[in-house]
Amino acid sequence: MTEKRLREIAVEQLQREDAAEELAQLAAEITAHDENYYQKDAPIIDDASYDALRQRNAAIEKRFPDLIRKDSPSQKVGAAPASGFSKARHVRPMLSLDNAFEDQDVIDFVGRVRRFLGVSEEDVVRLVAEPKIDGLSASLRYEEGVFVQGLTRGDGQIGENITDNLRTINEIPKRLSGQGWPEVLEVRGEVYMAKDDFLSLNKNQEDAGKPAFANPRNAAAGSLRQLDSRITARRPLRFFAYGWGDVTASFATGQYNALKKLEQWGFVINGLMNHFDRVEDVLAHYRHIAAQRADLPYDIDGVVYKVDRLDWQERLGMVSRAPRWAIAHKFPAEKAQTVLEHVDYQVGRTGTITPVARLKAVTVGGVVVSNATLHNADEIARLNVAIGDQVVVQRAGDVIPQVVEVVEKATQRQAIVFPQHCPSCGSHLMREEGEVAWRCSGGLICPAQRVERLRHFVSRNAFDIDGLGSKQIEFFFTEGLIESPADIFTLEKRDGQSLQKLKYREGWGDLSVQNLWQAINERRHIEMDRFLYALGIRHVGQNTARLLCRHYGRFDHFQSSMEAAQEAASDAYNGLLDIDGIGPKVADTIVEFFREAHNNDDIEALLSEVVVKEYEQQSSAGSAVMGLTVVFTGKLEKMSRNEAKARAEALGAKVAGSVSAKTNLLIAGPGAGSKLKKAEDLGVKVLSEDEWLTLTSS
Ligand code: IVH
Repeated sequence: MTEKRLREIAVEQLQREDAAEELAQLAAEITAHDENYYQKDAPIIDDASYDALRQRNAAIEKRFPDLIRKDSPSQKVGAAPASGFSKARHVRPMLSLDNAFEDQDVIDFVGRVRRFLGVSEEDVVRLVAEPKIDGLSASLRYEEGVFVQGLTRGDGQIGENITDNLRTINEIPKRLSGQGWPEVLEVRGEVYMAKDDFLSLNKNQEDAGKPAFANPRNAAAGSLRQLDSRITARRPLRFFAYGWGDVTASFATGQYNALKKLEQWGFVINGLMNHFDRVEDVLAHYRHIAAQRADLPYDIDGVVYKVDRLDWQERLGMVSRAPRWAIAHKFPAEKAQTVLEHVDYQVGRTGTITPVARLKAVTVGGVVVSNATLHNADEIARLNVAIGDQVVVQRAGDVIPQVVEVVEKATQRQAIVFPQHCPSCGSHLMREEGEVAWRCSGGLICPAQRVERLRHFVSRNAFDIDGLGSKQIEFFFTEGLIESPADIFTLEKRDGQSLQKLKYREGWGDLSVQNLWQAINERRHIEMDRFLYALGIRHVGQNTARLLCRHYGRFDHFQSSMEAAQEAASDAYNGLLDIDGIGPKVADTIVEFFREAHNNDDIEALLSEVVVKEYEQQSSAGSAVMGLTVVFTGKLEKMSRNEAKARAEALGAKVAGSVSAKTNLLIAGPGAGSKLKKAEDLGVKVLSEDEWLTLTSS
């Protein structure tokens, strides 16, 4: 009997023979999921579905104890990944870091900092440098010196509440020592596992017949994710503090001294942290740390540099979720050699065809790699690669592994023939002028594009629905249950009327289905930036989505403007183009998206299921320039143009490039010309730089 049909039979009704067959299937399936979880840190099913598989296995074994297999998951006691942590919003977002790979990138970084702040070459820009620990970041909240809450990073805005697990870590003080700490202090840092501890943990795992973890980072992640904090307590986790979030009072004027304070209050800070006044010295410290990398007791993947002066950090602020005042100088990518066995072609959400190399599995820097990207047809030609060749694969940080070089040509080479038709729908492939990528011309008749759009729709930075990941989307799509985004929100109702209910299907149970409905329903009120990003408009990533939100504020405004913008040279079109950061290429793709009837149909269907919230401007409540459209012109004397723009946006203003009837304020410095004249003609209010500073500094 097939796997699916077996799972539909209640355990009490299973025949002995079927029970034996299903136990064999479950053993194989659960082992595969364990491998994804422990080895790859990439589970492909949600935790509830995994639990359901184990529960079914246990129930069958209970009924037929003599059928328990040697390789049964119940005999291995592999600890399951946990779900069910509550979520909480970070008072201050947890940022990520931009990367530098070459010395020049670091020199450029310091140059950018100088220009932004208007600091001359003679003035010192002191940097603090410390190792970038390969673990997981956590934010620890102390109120009156007592540890009250610990969150994971999550998406940077909302994290998971893992307080009980963090409490088990010795290096995390439950109460602060010393004195002088602010009433509220959120300490941020990295939870990690030391290399030695990782090796002994794996040895214990193996002795107990449990799966081993692939690397210390996976082991730390798996340990922190436990629902039962008694398991976490047995795992040797550690913590380095490297920063802070919400604080009720400032406690230092520089990064270095701030961390020294954290040390006095009971935290462990990294012994290789130091500060330098010259870029050459920073780079020398990088090499000093790189040289010791293999001998350090913990894994690191680069060195982080931070501008020391906190008033400068404040002024520099952040751009697209990374601070302007910090950068991660990564170590060179790890490489390994293996055989190219085969090439498959993946269809992306906008139809882009990506050739994917299927490789003989090889370990690259502690992670097993069997797939790598070949990017596009030009790259295959450039590499002059064929099937059977010995190739070098490279893996750097979170980047998808890539084939970078052919080291030995096979004696019997099989040429890679790039297809002319879409592997999913058979439509012909086309290539736009100036683009390297071949695209499927099938649009929404192409199942691969449709499923990818749905995957994007539920992805982490879009709707992010718990328990509805890539795998489940594929399943629902293949079953014809979800074909467009709105179908996600009607699924529960349709399932209620269906004869073949989800809870009876393979891999699902009562509990996992209930959880799924709950997770979907929680997303019926969605932030505007997530919604816009989820639509999957070409060139509209998270940043552009936020720019649009800041400008239009409400989805219905945006939608009606895009309708009006169909008219070239209309005010609506020019308004879109005028948003700082949106050029003609992006503007045109957005307008084009709204020209397509099926896109508008999808949106209408969605809007009858979900409510898009009005965009909340961050930290700008009460600002005098909130919602105003401002234009800068002429020379600014107190700060760079970039800083002025960034400050205005942080206060909720929209910065435009040209003056129009919609402009509320023109800030004009010396040398202002045509923009000033136009503003005067239109009766737009004009401020000097000083007046602007007074207006915005309260
Ligand atoms: S600073 C605003 N310092 O790297 C500053 N991060 O790519 C944000 N990390 O999520 C982080 N060691 O998990 C900083 N010494 C260090 C770090 C460090 C590791 C991690 C952290 C962060 C990620 C950013």
